[in-house]
Amino acid sequence: MRPGKESTIPTTAPDAVLFRCPQIADGVRLWEIAKNTDVLDLNSSYAYVLWCRDFATTSIVATVDDRPVGFVTGYRRQDAPNTVMVWQVAVDADQRGKRIAGRMLHALLDRLAPEGVDRLETTISPDNTASIALFTGVARDRNTSITKQELFSPNDFPDSHEAEDLYTIG
Ligand SMILES: CC(C)(COP(=O)(O)OP(=O)(O)OC[C@H]1O[C@@H](n2cnc3c(N)ncnc32)[C@H](O)[C@@H]1OP(=O)(O)O)[C@@H](O)C(=O)NCCC(=O)NCCS
Repeated sequence: MRPGKESTIPTTAPDAVLFRCPQIADGVRLWEIAKNTDVLDLNSSYAYVLWCRDFATTSIVATVDDRPVGFVTGYRRQDAPNTVMVWQVAVDADQRGKRIAGRMLHALLDRLAPEGVDRLETTISPDNTASIALFTGVARDRNTSITKQELFSPNDFPDSHEAEDLYTIG
């Protein structure tokens, strides 16, 4: 590295937040983080543990002092392997507003880009303004598009689940 070039290296963790793939041992924390949001669909603890084993490379956790404080769970769509489908994003309440969610999504996209992933999909309920702002900001920061279309209506669910709109980045 040439002298004076250090400052040009992008810093992904200026506040000691580190980003890595989840491990099986993180599964219970991911379940806790999701549970504590009080807004996400909470799946079984087993689902999060299994996700940490089988979809680790398309998911990411943010840690502070080695403790997960946020996560993104995602998978590559079987019929569209250039697309990472983001299933859930959550950050502990006391860690929000530090761009942790945004940085997790950028880090995940950067990690998967060499493997040919150039699109991100996610579904968002119409009233989740935080999530809409998060993904809109990611598209803006990557200088790419974001589109929205209806995907699932309440009739697609057996309970009182809201509609889920499909957002596509890239
Ligand atoms: C949504 C959530 C993950 C955001 O985490 P975060 O780390 O605080 O988000 P960031 O700091 O990275 O913010 C990213 C962008 O979203 C915006 N944003 C974040 N929370 C917001 C809110 N409550 N209302 C409006 N905008 C919000 C930020 O202003 C920022 O926008 P910008 O890029 O234009 O500046 C977090 O609030 C959360 O865990 N919520 C509960 C779970 C949830 O709803 N998950 C999303 C659906 S899967």
